[in-house]
Amino acid sequence: MRVYSSHKELLKSLGNNKSIGLVPTMGSLHKGHLSLIQRAVRENKEVIISIYVNPTQFNDKEDLKKYPRNLDNDLKLLKDINNVLVYTPSDSDLYGQDEKSKKYNFGDFMNIMEGKQRPDHFDGVATIVEKLFKIFTPDNAYFGEKDFQQLILIKSLAEKLNPDLNVVGCKTIREKDGLAMSSRNKLLSKKERESAGEIIKLLLKAKEMNSSFNYRKIKNEVDRHINSIEGITLEYFEIIDLSKFINISEKRAFIACKVGNVRLIDNISL
Ligand code: PAF
Repeated sequence: MRVYSSHKELLKSLGNNKSIGLVPTMGSLHKGHLSLIQRAVRENKEVIISIYVNPTQFNDKEDLKKYPRNLDNDLKLLKDINNVLVYTPSDSDLYGQDEKSKKYNFGDFMNIMEGKQRPDHFDGVATIVEKLFKIFTPDNAYFGEKDFQQLILIKSLAEKLNPDLNVVGCKTIREKDGLAMSSRNKLLSKKERESAGEIIKLLLKAKEMNSSFNYRKIKNEVDRHINSIEGITLEYFEIIDLSKFINISEKRAFIACKVGNVRLIDNISL
């Protein structure tokens, strides 16, 4: 592992004509990130891991302040992996003097759920990912399915920027009780962590009910269940037929909720 805070220095040390994998992260690495990194290492000659908490994708400045950061531990987790270059930029190395996001239009799928609840969030994500794609011109880039809307947005961004760039969506990695791995899980108290384990049960209940009941009935059941769990408030629960928005024929259930003050999202294929 080699660590760079300047993208120019990192670029100088990349070998020529090698396949490059990129794993963009905001740090506080967990097993979900490590599974993306392991896959990238298997599929590429060199792998760049960026660790950068991107300010422009936080619509809530308190959330940005609270976002867990632990670079020392992240580097410890990566230290024994060969052929990885870790990019830990300052704001100015990526944004220069202009810490702003561009405006994008990614269509209707980006205006629902996360797009609706977190105004400007996807503009911030697309801005930083576009910068990383343009700087490092990777062959493959790896993102988790937990952030499913983000994954679709990045696929469409990549298609526009460089059709040869392969965006790889990777399965959500879960804790023993099914909670989707997320850096935000570190912010949960013991009691909140217990309640958070119920989120996947709601999604699985929706999956079970999907073949026999309509959306209204499933939604009522989810509402009823969530109200019985201490400390959780539902932001949204949706069952989406993706074929209505994008070129994927699949139904998925999506959920966002607050466990105490920690906002968690998850989704599963139905
Ligand atoms: O999913 C994330 O961690 C972030 O949104 C990303 C893709 C690294 C962009 O900052």
